[in-house]
This record gives sequence, structure tokens and C-alpha cells, in this order.
Amino acid sequence: MTATKPQQHNKGPTREDSAGSRRQQAIEIAAMGTVYLNGEFVAAEAASISPMDRGFIFGDGIYEVVPVFGGRLFRPGQHLQRLRNSLGAIGLENPLTDSQWASVLQRLVDDAGTDDQYVYLQVTRGVAPRNHAFPDNARPTVFAYAQRMNYATATSAATGIAVITAEDIRWRRCDIKSTALLAAVMLRQQAAESGADEAILVRDGLVTEGAASNVFLVRDDTVVTPPKGPLILAGITRDLVLELAQQHDMPLIERAVKENELATAHEIWIASSTNEIKPVIRIDGATVGSGGPGPVFARMYQHYQDYKRAFCEGRVD
Ligand code: PDD
Repeated sequence: MTATKPQQHNKGPTREDSAGSRRQQAIEIAAMGTVYLNGEFVAAEAASISPMDRGFIFGDGIYEVVPVFGGRLFRPGQHLQRLRNSLGAIGLENPLTDSQWASVLQRLVDDAGTDDQYVYLQVTRGVAPRNHAFPDNARPTVFAYAQRMNYATATSAATGIAVITAEDIRWRRCDIKSTALLAAVMLRQQAAESGADEAILVRDGLVTEGAASNVFLVRDDTVVTPPKGPLILAGITRDLVLELAQQHDMPLIERAVKENELATAHEIWIASSTNEIKPVIRIDGATVGSGGPGPVFARMYQHYQDYKRAFCEGRVD
């Protein structure tokens, strides 16, 4: 934690600061342009939902984040399959067919008009009087927007990032991409207050994943990552890393990872749709490996960028 942080915390934001940041947030929302809400494309600042929406009241919903490179949705089939899995797991019918989803998302991407973006989509169980059990006949609320993004800056591939470790306080169905993200929000905030970018989570002595990313370790030349299951989200970026490792003969094993392996790992990476792959250079204040992005990371990152370039040029789907 930096010396200035506690001071800022004690002082708290002034009324002017809060008004200024609220104005800034309103400007950013207006700059989002058109969003999709329940069958219509509307200006972001004009979109509204009922406060009785179960997404608002209970966090009773599912979301997806799909990267967009070169103006094209990246791996939409995989994201829509995961969406179906998540919706199925919470007993919600998919409100749109895959081709309807694809045309909604592509229209948002085209409206945003830049090469690099991500698309966020969310389906909640809809509006109903407050009662925990599922309501009869509620109509799902469907929301999506595209956000411009500068992946080159977001990646920090050259510099690396700092992380903390934290107890995985989430529920036992982390394979469901639920909008109920309070535990992840608190864990990311804990990381931010320690001057770190991500929290690597540990449950019963085993590494699960990051608060919003999957985790990889490197020992000697072998990449290791925890296996899929109910305790982690099956990341689409993680899948691509596995594919690239196989294609390029890089040894990679999916197995349980003990917490104490983090301290002796030669390299640690995190991966997600909005972070791509990032090298971790500090963990709980200690240096990881040589203190910079490692050689195995450099190889994987190159393969990932080559794959992206091939995708943007239409050479791979
Ligand atoms: N989060 N694990 C968790 C808990 C995540 O929230 C994410 C992504 C991932 C990586 O999945 P993918 O590679 O499919 O993005 C793993 C997104 C980006 C988010 O919540 O914004």
C-alpha cells in the first residue's frame, strides 16, 4: 500500500469530488452510445429498468463478456455456449437464439465502430414482486452494450502486474457466470487497496483462480493450471491458452495447485477476455521469478498475439 492511500481514505471524497466523478460517470455512460435492452436499441442514458428487477434485487442473473478484435466478436460460439450453460444451471431459458444474439452483438459492435472493444451482455430473471423463489411467468430482462477498449494498454505484457493472495470467499458454483459478484468485488477492492491489480484466490489450500481471471503457474518449462470444475469459471481465454500450448508443443498440465507453489513458481500469469494474458511480477509484495515477464510467458504471449492477428485478418475463426 502506498503512503498516500490511508490519508486519502481517512479524508474521504469531498462533495465536489463526488459531484465531479458522478458527472464524469454520466459522460462516460452517454459516450457508450446505443445499448440493447429488451428487444430495442436505445441511447445508454435513456435505457431504464424497473427497480424490482431480480437482477437488481437479488443479483439473479447471468452475464458474458466477449472480446472484439478487428471489429469481430472473438470466439462468440464459445461465449454463447457458456451463456447457455450458465442459464441452464440457474433454470433460465435462453431468451435469444444464437443467431439473434450474434446479430444484436454485432450491431452494437458496428455502432461503437472501433477495432478493439468488448461486449457485455446480461440476462436476469426479470421483474417480479420480491420473493426469493422463482416467480411464475417472469419475462427475462436482456441487456447488452459494446465498450471501446485499448487492449495494447490493458495488457501490461511488458511490465507485468502485482497481485495479492486472498481466501476464496465465493460460493461453490463459480462455474456459473453469475451477476451476483459481491465476493469478487470485495476481493478486487482488497487487491486495489494493497496497490495490486488482482487477487489470486485460495480455497482449502488450493489455488482456484483470480477474482476475475484464470491463473497459470510455470515451473521449469511446464505450465500448470487448476482444472475446470464448479470452483472456477471455465475461461474462454484459458481454453485458448490450452489450445495454443498444444499447437506449439509447450508442456501444459491441468492439475490441483497448492497455495505454497505460488511462492516457488518461476512464472505466474493471469488470463481473461479483457486482460488477455498478463505476467504477474509481484505476489503479496514478493518478487515472482526474475521479477519481470518470464520466457515461457513471452512465448505464449507471442502465440496469442499471432493468433489474434490471424483472426483479425480472417485466417482463423
Ligand atoms: N471475467 N474467472 C473469473 C472469476 C472471471 O470473472 C473471468 C472473466 C475469468 C476469465 O474468463 P474469460 O477468459 O472467459 O474472460 C475467469 C470477465 C472478463 C469480467 O467479469 O469482466
